Amino acid sequence: MAAGEPVGVAVVGCGTVSDTYLSNLTSFPDLRVLFCADLDLERAKAQAARYGVPGAGRTDQAIEHPDVELVVNLTVPAAHAEVTRQAVALGKNVWIEKPLALDTEAGRDLLAAAARAGVRIGCAPDTVLGAGLQTARRLIAGGAIGEPQTALALMQDPGPERWHPAPEFLFQRGAGPLFDIGPYYLTVLASLFGPATAVAALGRRGRRSRVIGRGPRAGASFHVAVPTYVASLLSYAGGGAATVLLSFDSPLRRHGFVEITGTEATLAMPDPNRFDGEVRIRRAGDGEWTVIPAAGATAGRGLGALDLARALRAGAPHRASGELALHVLDTMEAIARSLAGGTFEPVHTTFPVPDVLPAGWDPRARTLA
Ligand SMILES: NC(=O)c1ccc[n+]([C@@H]2O[C@H](COP(=O)([O-])OP(=O)(O)OC[C@H]3O[C@@H](n4cnc5c(N)ncnc54)[C@H](O)[C@@H]3O)[C@@H](O)[C@H]2O)c1
Repeated sequence: MAAGEPVGVAVVGCGTVSDTYLSNLTSFPDLRVLFCADLDLERAKAQAARYGVPGAGRTDQAIEHPDVELVVNLTVPAAHAEVTRQAVALGKNVWIEKPLALDTEAGRDLLAAAARAGVRIGCAPDTVLGAGLQTARRLIAGGAIGEPQTALALMQDPGPERWHPAPEFLFQRGAGPLFDIGPYYLTVLASLFGPATAVAALGRRGRRSRVIGRGPRAGASFHVAVPTYVASLLSYAGGGAATVLLSFDSPLRRHGFVEITGTEATLAMPDPNRFDGEVRIRRAGDGEWTVIPAAGATAGRGLGALDLARALRAGAPHRASGELALHVLDTMEAIARSLAGGTFEPVHTTFPVPDVLPAGWDPRARTLA
């Protein structure tokens, strides 16, 4: 492909999350969405028609499309590795929705295959590229809280079975508050503090069974297989430390609490599961928070794929990298081992800390002209 051309994209997996992706990706002038694929061909055709995408069909057709350079993999978690492997084998770059793979070993294999093929892997969450969290990172990098030292993060919720019509999978291996919500919080903390090196955790299961609250099967109960309260301590290579509580056992709903404490002040981050939100700072002795408006992109899911595409053309590193996602997966597995065994667990994977986006970074600008 010519250096200044938009990057050709195929979306594989046209389910629930594909609406947000397709509406965003088709609005970014640096990308050209060429193909929609799904196991359900009717679904692929419907999404292609809805978003003006010229091609629709099977996964192999999407990957083999000669003008597709970037495959956006929005399949279910169990298919992430297989679709990515196929794309990498044909020399395509891949953006993957979370999780990178079902376990660290499978994720490591994918990154190794991509490195051998000379292609890139990027992975959600890309909320870290949103205005709120980027503004917080710029403030911290500029010394607004002195030297950042510790973090306190909380996500407390009564549980997704209250609103999700088929919530069983959210309480099985690979999910629960740690693996389903943890990536948002742990990715933000890793972006600030660098790689985690050790974790300790305590977990409990508030109830052995839960009841579906909504939908055609409302009232049915199902088994809970994973801890629904996970309290973790994390130690980071650069000297930082964090306390993170993730719970589906709390009648009180409190989402998006992330405070970073530095030598001079505490900074309250926006919700790591959102692209916008305000940043607040409080110095010792302040009676109130100072609110700082967020500056940057609030477009939503797809920013990470766009950053990957632009970085591909520029020959620069992309920010929501496969290495960062692998590290977060490794950290979550270490937390799961710690709470099962009552031990401190080391974390061995590492990643390059992504640069902060420039203040004027605009997803809707044409930069590859
Ligand atoms: N739904 C959300 O709001 C949301 C939010 C954040 C992240 N995610 C992530 O996005 C991914 C997709 O979630 P979803 O909610 O859209 O799921 P979904 O079940 O609604 O859609 C997944 C689609 O992938 C298709 N698919 C499965 N295997 C395939 C294969 N091998 N080749 C082609 N298509 C295949 C399915 O037919 C289905 O249409 C998951 O990894 C999930 O964790 C979803």
